[in-house]
Amino acid sequence: MTMTAPAAKMKFAPFAEVFTAPPDPILGLTEAFRNDPNLNKVNLGVGVYLNEKGIVPVLSSVHEAESRLLTQETTKTYLPIDGDANYNRRVQTLLFGENSALVAEGRAVTLQALGGTGALRVGADFLSRFAGGASVYLSDPSWENHAQIFEFAGFDVKRYPYYNAETHALEFSAMMTSLEEAKSGSIIVLHACCHNPTGADLTQEQWDQVVLLFQKRELIPFLDFAYQGFAVGLEEDAYAVRLFAQAQIPYLIANSFSKSFSLYRERVGALTIVGTNAEEANRVLSQVKRDVRSNYSNPAAHGAQTVAIILGDPELRSLWESELTGMREHIRTMRVRFVEELKARGVEQDFSFILRQSGMFSYSGLTKDVVLKLREQGIYIVDSGRVCLGAIHESNVGTICAAIAEQLGESVEC
Ligand code: LMR
Repeated sequence: MTMTAPAAKMKFAPFAEVFTAPPDPILGLTEAFRNDPNLNKVNLGVGVYLNEKGIVPVLSSVHEAESRLLTQETTKTYLPIDGDANYNRRVQTLLFGENSALVAEGRAVTLQALGGTGALRVGADFLSRFAGGASVYLSDPSWENHAQIFEFAGFDVKRYPYYNAETHALEFSAMMTSLEEAKSGSIIVLHACCHNPTGADLTQEQWDQVVLLFQKRELIPFLDFAYQGFAVGLEEDAYAVRLFAQAQIPYLIANSFSKSFSLYRERVGALTIVGTNAEEANRVLSQVKRDVRSNYSNPAAHGAQTVAIILGDPELRSLWESELTGMREHIRTMRVRFVEELKARGVEQDFSFILRQSGMFSYSGLTKDVVLKLREQGIYIVDSGRVCLGAIHESNVGTICAAIAEQLGESVEC
């Protein structure tokens, strides 16, 4: 039987006013990259680590843990709302270290989340219900997605100075002045390491000053920690996270294992909230679980259980740590190669600031005009000039630098 909709219904067009959204500045670029037929194209947009073959690798530690999981798994029943308890405990150890007083006191609650983004969004939803009316401050610049995460959760989003693109340096005193002026109870998003997009991190001494300021001004820190292990090492990169723990400041951490375990599509992260005592932390947990339940009910198991297997097995953990070190060191080597190669190709502009940055990204200082021209040559860089160094290898560094040199009008044959 064929159904004929009544004609009157055709006039009902509730979405007629919906306008087309601009492509996502980062993931939209990946879509454009995929559609580009150029065989020599390079995607330096999205933050992923690629191997020499241009592939995001499955780490050997992950491969092994996944095979174990496949043979050992006995059920596909739901995970709890807050995720896999074993995974959550292991996340806390990575964040706060072995023998953390904060963990022993039960002041931290951790919920498995859908990557760092999912953790940020669940945290934002919770804050919008319990710290409503507060403003959220992001670094200027910050990760392109931060603003819409907090805006969509209903917050007024402001900026604090962070980085001067002209001098390629942090604007630390301007940052401190701005935070000093923020209303008490404001939520301040901080990048715990490997600042995205600039690659410019605070020194330990600067973090010490930041924590004192947060104590004095009673600000709520929300730490975005997506790159643990990509700056110096797993322990060293947790400096800021652990400093806030010692300072007894209530705070939130959104962490991700997308990069450190190369598990991007499995969406593995966690939201951790630190309260003033265990009883308060548990009340908080009960509420955040409602945010999860109303969003996606409970998380997917595969990625988190894979990470838990690796972290719980000394041999796999040491294999993973060596693979992580390999990625970190490769990116560092490529920073050097990138700067050398630009120079060798005749670029006189000083790019040595790239050597002082850490993590996957560099705010290269390339203008939007140059970025758009490079895109026509198959080299994809975010409009802001953020370059993902994790995608640069010996096999493409020459092509990339030659194209940049050409666009800067400083090209010489190599
Ligand atoms: C990035 O900044 O490129 C990554 O964190 C991926 C993303 O989701 O934007």
